[in-house]
Amino acid sequence: MAREVLQTHDAEFSGRSIPDAVVGGQQNYDVSVAWISAQDQWRTIRRVLNIYFTNTKKVEMLEVLRLKVVTQMVDHIKEISRRGQAVDIGKLAFTTALNQMSNTCFSEDVAGFDSDQDDNGFYKGVKTIMKVVGKINCADYFPWLKTFDPQGIRKEAWGAYGWLDQVCEKFINQRLRHRESKLPPYGDLLDSFLDFQQQNPDDFNIMHIKALLTDLFIAGTDNISSTIGWAMSELVLHPDVMHKVRGEISERIKGKERLEEAETLELHYLQSVLKETMRLHLTVPLLLPHKSETDVKLNGYMIPKNTRVIINAWAIAHDTNSWENPDHFKPERFIGSEIDYKGQHFSFLPFGSGRRMCSGIRLAERAMSLILVSLVAHFDWKLPNNMLPEELDMDDTFGVTAQRATPLLLIPTPASN
Ligand code: HEM
Repeated sequence: MAREVLQTHDAEFSGRSIPDAVVGGQQNYDVSVAWISAQDQWRTIRRVLNIYFTNTKKVEMLEVLRLKVVTQMVDHIKEISRRGQAVDIGKLAFTTALNQMSNTCFSEDVAGFDSDQDDNGFYKGVKTIMKVVGKINCADYFPWLKTFDPQGIRKEAWGAYGWLDQVCEKFINQRLRHRESKLPPYGDLLDSFLDFQQQNPDDFNIMHIKALLTDLFIAGTDNISSTIGWAMSELVLHPDVMHKVRGEISERIKGKERLEEAETLELHYLQSVLKETMRLHLTVPLLLPHKSETDVKLNGYMIPKNTRVIINAWAIAHDTNSWENPDHFKPERFIGSEIDYKGQHFSFLPFGSGRRMCSGIRLAERAMSLILVSLVAHFDWKLPNNMLPEELDMDDTFGVTAQRATPLLLIPTPASN
């Protein structure tokens, strides 16, 4: 059925049903790539993103900045290890993913590893948006309730989106001044957006850029950190898998100081671990809500125009018709298998499929692989307070992204081999 919706009738189901939290919260939701219908404006924005994300050269140009972020992460863990303390893996991965994204967008760090405080508010802002947009909101089902905002969801969303909007505006203004002063360009995503805007002022304006940056921070940070949190949980539960991943990395590094991003993508076992993590713990369990743009006949049923369509990617990834022992963590199932997450295999849709598919896959796979390699290669990890792996809480929470219900705290020591 997912294939029918996302492939056979891709165009007809390419609309979005926008949650009230977004309508009430995001000032520019009507130009947001994630929420507008797949018409001309959306095509232009996706083109702007593709100029950057489908061009390996451009993605690689900023690799050095992303490597810098991961080096800072490793240094931070070393310091914690010296103190014999535990690391909150989710928070650590969030700060790393956030700074990787901010370096890709603005060539700048926006969060510090050292501060316990969320001094720049990104953590709180993104987490709040993920929480309120994913919440079951009665105003989405009984539209007359929207004005009353009975669960206070609009209010909370407005605060978080408003804050993020202001930060993105500040970065855009700074960059415009930089460009006026004729200093050398940064060559990052923001420069790429502004170049496109100058060449296409009628189709793409500063409002689009602001909404796009906001979308990227929301779409491209929490998903990554959450996947890393689950991957590390599974590795701690399965020391044999951890051992194999480390063996593969050591084999590949062979005396070099570190691996390049592209090399981490060639670590087949590590890639299988990431795929299996994304299958077992789908970060986006229900794809963003699609909507029918016309009446559509689907497997004998008439689906009227404007129907909200929810694809349960979690259920698909746990279906016993496609997966043997679907609740078991078994990276080996992907070794030698053609199944990947590029949207062609409908038993595995962590990034969706069709025209509304995630536009950040290339960046996501690089960011996640590099973070995981650095965590596994440099440190041994153990649970605090002599906790046994089987005592680890593996419950998740429900939102746009499925997070660990409790933080994953692990004690690092420098890797023994
Ligand atoms: C583990 C990381 C990630 C996962 C699991 C993920 C997953 C998804 C999913 C499931 C969708 C919705 C697909 C649909 O509705 O059919 C989506 C949309 C999107 N993602 Fe990602 N994503 C990740 C990382 C990223 C990154 C790093 C970026 C940006 C650089 C990004 C940008 C977007 C955008 C812009 C959309 C909206 C596309 C549209 O509606 O046209 N994502 N993502």
